[in-house]
Amino acid sequence: MFPIQRPRRLRQTANLRRMVQENLLTVNDLIYPLFAVPGTSVAKEVTSMPGVYQLSVDKIVEEAKEVYDLGIPSIILFGIPDSKDDDATGAWHDCGIVQKAASAVKEAVPDLVVIADTCLCEYTGHGHCGYLEVGDLTGRVLNDPTLELLKKTAVSQAKAGADIIAPSGMMDGFVQAIRQGLDEAGFQDTPILSYAAKYASAYYGPFRDAAESAPQFGDRRTYQMDPANGREALKEVELDIAEGADMLMVKPALAYMDIIWRVKEITQLPVAAYNVSGEYSMVKAAALNGWVDEQKIVLETLTAFKRSGADLILTYHAKDAARWLKD
Ligand code: PBG
Ligand code: ZN
Repeated sequence: MFPIQRPRRLRQTANLRRMVQENLLTVNDLIYPLFAVPGTSVAKEVTSMPGVYQLSVDKIVEEAKEVYDLGIPSIILFGIPDSKDDDATGAWHDCGIVQKAASAVKEAVPDLVVIADTCLCEYTGHGHCGYLEVGDLTGRVLNDPTLELLKKTAVSQAKAGADIIAPSGMMDGFVQAIRQGLDEAGFQDTPILSYAAKYASAYYGPFRDAAESAPQFGDRRTYQMDPANGREALKEVELDIAEGADMLMVKPALAYMDIIWRVKEITQLPVAAYNVSGEYSMVKAAALNGWVDEQKIVLETLTAFKRSGADLILTYHAKDAARWLKD
């Protein structure tokens, strides 16, 4: 007997397909990353990330306006400081580059939600995400002393106008430390988007060009997670929820969609997926060669993140996606 169920019945026309579509990507889901550098009128394209630029604050403001006009609700700011030191001074100084960019954007485009990435690797000479023991050449970041710097950084970013603090360093207790710092400084209502499950990934390569944050020695495997582990991500997420995280991130996204799904299943908090630099660069390189249809592949990938459980997507494709979603 031929099967009574014929799933193709519901795929016959565009309208039928539209009616039974389960997930919908919208511009509301997108967060656009920006890289702030010192100077004026600077727009320097990142070689490994075509279409992504290091921008001086005046240019960041222009870009923020464009992003806002496209209907994208939010940006996340990264900074490349004038100078780097062991105390990551550029990260927590009130005149730091992210602080300057955040306050300029909030003044020009008050409704745009400004997220500040809270980490130290862009600001330390060795490129690790915190303090190292003197003489350490492996990159085993000292956890608890680093929390103090992260706290200072978050408070300074909030003071500058950042609407959301996004700690990305994978230190133990970083959400609690930052929550405490923000609360003590009067920022009880500033949400924390925790990079809860962040893997030690080769997909960050192009970002480290963009942010000039590659570790000068060693690697990040003593703080970021082993790509082989799934349950450990759930442990990280549970801890961050207990410590007061308001939103949770899984990063990278493409090779970790099972993790996005599993995280979504154990929490009611919004889940964000970071479609990271290497994922972007691979698509860009193939598209520039004419090997894939960029628009289709990007919208398919972003929709798949939604299907896997992501409520929010940080992506370098955000501006293009916003335009494509309009047509
Ligand atoms: C800093 C940080 C990284 C990314 C976001 N925040 C890189 C890293 O951990 O080396 C990666 C983002 C991307 O690849 O797009 N801790
Ligand atoms: Zn870092």
